[in-house]
Parts: sequence; C-alpha cells; structure tokens
Amino acid sequence: MKKIAIFASGSGSNAENIITTLANNPDIRVDSVFCNVPDAYVLERAKKLQIPAFVFNRQELNDPAHVLGQLRERQIDFIVLAGFLWLMPSAITAAYPDRIVNIHPALLPAYGGKGMYGARVHEAVIAAGEKQSGITIHYVNERYDEGNIIFQARCDITPEDTPDTLAQKVHALEYKHFPHVIMEAISKLR
Ligand code: GRF
Repeated sequence: MKKIAIFASGSGSNAENIITTLANNPDIRVDSVFCNVPDAYVLERAKKLQIPAFVFNRQELNDPAHVLGQLRERQIDFIVLAGFLWLMPSAITAAYPDRIVNIHPALLPAYGGKGMYGARVHEAVIAAGEKQSGITIHYVNERYDEGNIIFQARCDITPEDTPDTLAQKVHALEYKHFPHVIMEAISKLR
C-alpha cells in the first residue's frame, strides 16, 4: 500500500478527482491534503471526502522539522501537486526523488515557470496565437516546472476559444489523465 499526500492551493477539483478515482484502488491510499491557503476550497472538499487536511505557512513548509516531518510521520510515499503554487523546498525534493509529480496546464517547456499559473497561462497561450495547448505532468525538482516530463496530452484551440473555454478543455484533460498517470508512476516505485 502506497500513501499519497496531495498539495493544493486553490479550488482542488483535481484533488477531488484524484481522491474519488483512487478510492477503490487497493494499492494506493490518498492519506492527506496539504494546503498553504487557509480558506482554499480544497479544504472543504477534503472535509467532505473525509481526508485529513493540514494548513501550513511558508516558514513551516521550509522548516524540515515541520511539513517534511509530518510527511515522514504519516509515512507518505508519494506527493502529488495539484494546483500548488509554492516552490517545494529542496529538503522535500531531496527526500522524495522521483516521488513528487506536478500537473501544469500547458505544454511545457512553453508557458511555464514562476508566475505562470491558472488563467495567466491560458491568456498567454491564446495571445500567442497557438493552435494547440494541453497538459504536462512532470516530476518535481527545486525549480518551477523543470522536472522530467512524464506525460503530455493535447487539445486544439479554435478561433472562438477564450482563456475560459481553453481552461475547460485543459481541465477535462487533467481529470481524464492525472489519476492514471499517478497510478502508473506509483506502480514503478520500488
Ligand atoms: C489546474 O489547472 C492545474 O493544472 C494547475 O492548477 C489548476 C488547479 O485547478 N496546476 P484545481 O484547483 O485542481 O481545480
């Protein structure tokens, strides 16, 4: 049995989709949700789904005795970043090599990096006149959006698309693929 912690900062629709999709998997358990925003909607979702949730501030994230200590105490095997907006400190990336994945709502290496999140990504993609966008799931290192890519999926952009409609297309790809890519990555763990 492998235990997952999900880190999220916002709405948490991916977190909810991962929790419900993996609920019947006998080999994986979503153990907990970690969140840096005290009023984020992901905390409501965790409560509804009866998953323990922990809120932390930046200092607690960066203090190896705090968030990393909790992950160790709870014997977390694998970490999923699902709309988590802070950089993972090197103490955590070093403790979980190839055991942290992130989802990015565009086709990295384009449209990534610090400050490129949420609507800003879709606005930039449309402003650049791209014909396609998509999702990238990648391992996490101590730099934003630069770890090895595990999986990408694409969607077409039509002339009628707005950042909102593109966001909907990208979310649909996220819900379809992210839980399965997580299962696959976990099945490769020793
Ligand atoms: C997703 O689009 C994800 O790709 C990005 O942040 C968004 C999170 O949405 N990293 P939600 O909180 O899961 O609804």
